[in-house]
Amino acid sequence: MREAILSGRGIQKNFGETTVLHGIDIDLYAGDFTVVMGASGSGKSTLLYALSGMDRVSGGTVTYQGRDITRASEKEQTKLRASAFGFVFQKTHLIGNLTLRENIRMAGLIAALSDREAAERTEQLVQQMNLQGAAGWLPGAVSGGEAQRAAVARAVVHSPAILFADEPTGALNRANSQEVLDLFSCLHRDGQSVLLVTHDRDAALRGNRILYLEDGRITGELVLPVYAGRDPTRESRLTAWLEEQGW
Ligand SMILES: Nc1ncnc2c1ncn2[C@@H]1O[C@H](COP(=O)(O)OP(=O)(O)OP(=O)(O)O)[C@@H](O)[C@H]1O
Ligand SMILES: [Mg+2]
Repeated sequence: MREAILSGRGIQKNFGETTVLHGIDIDLYAGDFTVVMGASGSGKSTLLYALSGMDRVSGGTVTYQGRDITRASEKEQTKLRASAFGFVFQKTHLIGNLTLRENIRMAGLIAALSDREAAERTEQLVQQMNLQGAAGWLPGAVSGGEAQRAAVARAVVHSPAILFADEPTGALNRANSQEVLDLFSCLHRDGQSVLLVTHDRDAALRGNRILYLEDGRITGELVLPVYAGRDPTRESRLTAWLEEQGW
């Protein structure tokens, strides 16, 4: 039995009269790159917000380290998000008047790394994310791909237990998308647990476990080997499975 790091049970989310998540059960396992795939409006972002404590649920529980985080206070949830979780979105949300390097380092300081730890970890990530040339520039002066790579670095500067990503390649062209996805794969191979929600098949390919969300219910699961480069067999397995799911 593998140990779940985060478990959702009966997660329900209503917006007014509309139920968007219908009692979802989900476990995230340490070291997994879990992808939630589904059509626009199926509830992927809502599920990510519910699991990460970014938004309150209408029913059900989310357990992290033995605690139901849905019952934690706002302050405790904020602290947990800052220390144990990392986030990447379609938009980078980098601070415009700080360089990429300063953005990454500041996130480390906010997550309570010491000055030295934050600086060292930032330089390590700048190398890993191939940002040596861009790290001294402001977000507005670099390419979309460089900015998003910095956003990924910022999200993992404090070595979070789970990296949450919501359509991280949604605003990127194909070349930049592949670079960002390569980073996710690289982090995963180094042991990072990831939850990525997307309707991008190329992004889904990077997962080793893919869940299908349809109208607020998980309707399918595909387990794949850990991504190790382009692989036609993997691509056809995913395509066939997605067809079965009604993609
Ligand atoms: N704050 C909100 N108030 C009302 N309805 C909402 C709110 N947020 C989301 N919804 C609705 O919930 C449903 C699921 O939305 P969600 O954003 O989770 O879908 P998604 O799968 O992430 O879609 P996309 O692929 O377009 O990002 C949609 O019908 C959406 O209109
Ligand atoms: Mg969404």
